Order: sequence, then structure tokens, then C-alpha cells
Amino acid sequence: MDETLIATINKLQDALAPLGGGSGSPVDLPQITVLGSQSSGKSSVLENIVGRDFLPRGTGIVTRRPLILQLINRRPAKRNSSILVDIDGSSSPKSPNLNGSSIRTENNKDEWGEFLHLPGKKFFKFDDIRKEIVKETEKITGKNAGISSIPINLRIYSPHVLTLTLVDLPGLTKVPVGDQPKDIEKQIKDMVLKFISKPNAIILSVNAANIDLANSDGLKLAREVDPEGTRTIGVLTKVDLMDVGTDVIDILAGRVIPLRYGYVPVINRGQKDIETSKSIRNALLDEKRFFENHPSYSSKSHYCGTPYLAKKLNSILLHHIKQTLPEIKLRIESALKKYQLELNNLGPEIVDSPSSIVLGVITNFCKDYNSILEGESKDISSQEL
Ligand code: GDP
Ligand code: NA
Ligand code: MG
Repeated sequence: MDETLIATINKLQDALAPLGGGSGSPVDLPQITVLGSQSSGKSSVLENIVGRDFLPRGTGIVTRRPLILQLINRRPAKRNSSILVDIDGSSSPKSPNLNGSSIRTENNKDEWGEFLHLPGKKFFKFDDIRKEIVKETEKITGKNAGISSIPINLRIYSPHVLTLTLVDLPGLTKVPVGDQPKDIEKQIKDMVLKFISKPNAIILSVNAANIDLANSDGLKLAREVDPEGTRTIGVLTKVDLMDVGTDVIDILAGRVIPLRYGYVPVINRGQKDIETSKSIRNALLDEKRFFENHPSYSSKSHYCGTPYLAKKLNSILLHHIKQTLPEIKLRIESALKKYQLELNNLGPEIVDSPSSIVLGVITNFCKDYNSILEGESKDISSQEL
């Protein structure tokens, strides 16, 4: 049921993409957007959530265009292989694994990426996806630290992900480098604001644990657009780099800057791990071990690390989608009326015109939506956050 709901939202998002998204779009669909200073670990967090290596990461400004990433859960081709085997040996036929810890065969044909700017081309190697992101970034922004607000749209189809949309963004920065304009701080801030100020954006506020939270520009910005903290979740990266004897317990307990959905501490791969190509799987194992064995975190290690973050994110997303459905439905219905009117004015129907495709998807969405609503009222209250 929930999967259908997010899948339908994604279908709609795709159909509306030609309309330009943003203000031109009749609906503002839920998506998870990262926010934080440059090199706080935003791309690393997203990559760990997806469980595959495919994002350019590193010191300095690496992410220079927004990346709109649609994860699409799809059942594997072979019938019996839909059972995922976790590293601890347990298997779960139902819920896809969002944390990348399931056993995977490399280059398997069940997982691939597709870019909106390269329709029909399937990328089976995740290294090639990263190269294409770099190439496409440089095509618009050049090689020397320039930025652009024109997004790159990427879809990843896999049996190992939950269907949801993530947005990777350039980090907040203060001092121009390379070809960057003098007002780079403002340019990036404006770009980020465009994404996080949408009421349907869930803000993943990424902060390095080894930097004072009170100085976080990201959290400050998150508060500006979400003062009640109803769509912001905190992530603390680089917990492994904290000075010995210090920890993030006060932050987790809400004693520093409280957030309604709290904070999740995580450990991503460091620069050396990237250079030595440490696998995400090993990184997740090390992360688990770190929290389980650390005196400050061992008693609450279940609430630490990437798998917990992914679970929490998913339930926040579902909760959010359910809350915003009535509004989305209203807007779709009014868009539907508008397009219907336009179509009528166009005269006899041309079957393949873009507007009739959009109309078809919207009509189906309304149907799906109604059937989902009928079944959901009973499980909406049982969402655990
Ligand atoms: P972004 O600029 O916010 O997208 O940050 P990146 O994901 O590109 O990471 C910036 C740098 O910090 C990279 O060199 C990462 O390897 C490193 N990094 C990110 N998260 C962690 C972490 O949890 N621990 C350690 N040791 N390094 C990290
Ligand atoms: Na970076
Ligand atoms: Mg980045």
C-alpha cells in the first residue's frame, strides 16, 4: 500500500517534469532534500542511503548542480530472487533494503540508472553514473568550481531501494574559489532555498559532528523555512572524527538545538576510504561496529547509523505524503479541469500530444489516490516515527 503511494507520486512527478517542475507544476511533490555546509558529508549520506557508489564526493565543492534522484523499487526479473538476504543472515521477502547491507551481485542487470537528459540509455555500472554526473555538471558549469541551478535528473531502478526522491545540492559556502562569482554565498543560498522552502520538502540537515552545531548555517536556514521543525531531520556526520572524550549525546538528547524529529549520528567513508575504494558494505559494517562498541553510544546503538536514518526517513516521508495528499488532490483536480478545458479547445484529440499524456497520468493518479485513501485510513495512525 505505502509503496504504491510513493510509486504513484513518483509517476506523477515524472509526467510533470516536462512542465518544468517548480512553480509551473500544478503539484509540489514530497521529496527529501539535503542541506548543509560544503563538505559536511551530504553526498556521502545520500550514497549510503542508496547503498551504491555513484555520487561524486570529496573535499571542496564537488556537487555543483542540483541532482534530483528518484529511487524506484522494482522487483527483480527472476521470481524467487525477490528475497533479500541481509548480512546478518536474516531474510525479508517484503521490505526492500534501504541500507545497502544486502548481498548483491556486481553489474547485475536488476539495477540500473537512467538520466532524463539521455532518455532510453541504461547505466548498469554505477561508476559510469558518477562519470556521467561529472560530465554533465562540467558541461554546464565548466571545470573550475562554477555552479548552476539547472538540475540533473537521475532515476535508479533497483530491488534494493525504497521508492523515494532525494535531492543532492551544493553545500553552503562563504568564500569564492576558482571561477566562482563574488556573490557565491548568496547564489548557493538562493538555490538551496528554492528547494527547501517548498512545503513538501523534507529537509535532511547534515552537520559535521566535529564542528560546533551553534555555527551551523544549514540549521539556521532550515529554521527559516521550517520554524516548527515539522519537516526537518538532523544528521550528524563525522562522529568518528570527534576529539577523544567528546560525543554528540547532548545534541541527541535535544539539549543543544532541539529538532522535533531529532538527530541521527552516522559515519560515512572518509577521504582516505574514498581513495582506497572502500566498499559501502564494509563502511556500513564499520559504522555498526563503531556505535556498538563506543561507550557513549553502545546503549543506544539502535538509534545510530545509516540503516536507522533510512528507516526514519522513510516513515517521515510516508507520514508527510499522507498529510499532504488532500492538498495535492485538490491541486491535481483543478489542474485536471484546466487541461480538460484546454484539450476541448484544441478540438479533436491527438492521442500522443504531451498534454494528453499528462492528462492520462493525472487521471490514473486520481484513481490510484482514491483507492489508496479507501484503504489507508486504518493504517495512517499506526505510523511509528
Ligand atoms: P558534501 O560536500 O557535503 O557533499 O560532502 P561529501 O560527501 O563530498 O564529503 C566531503 C568529505 O568528507 C569527503 O572527503 C568525505 O570522505 C568526508 N566525509 C564525509 N562524511 C564523513 C564521515 O562521517 N567521516 C569521515 N571520516 N569523513 C567523512
Ligand atoms: Na564536498
Ligand atoms: Mg556533495
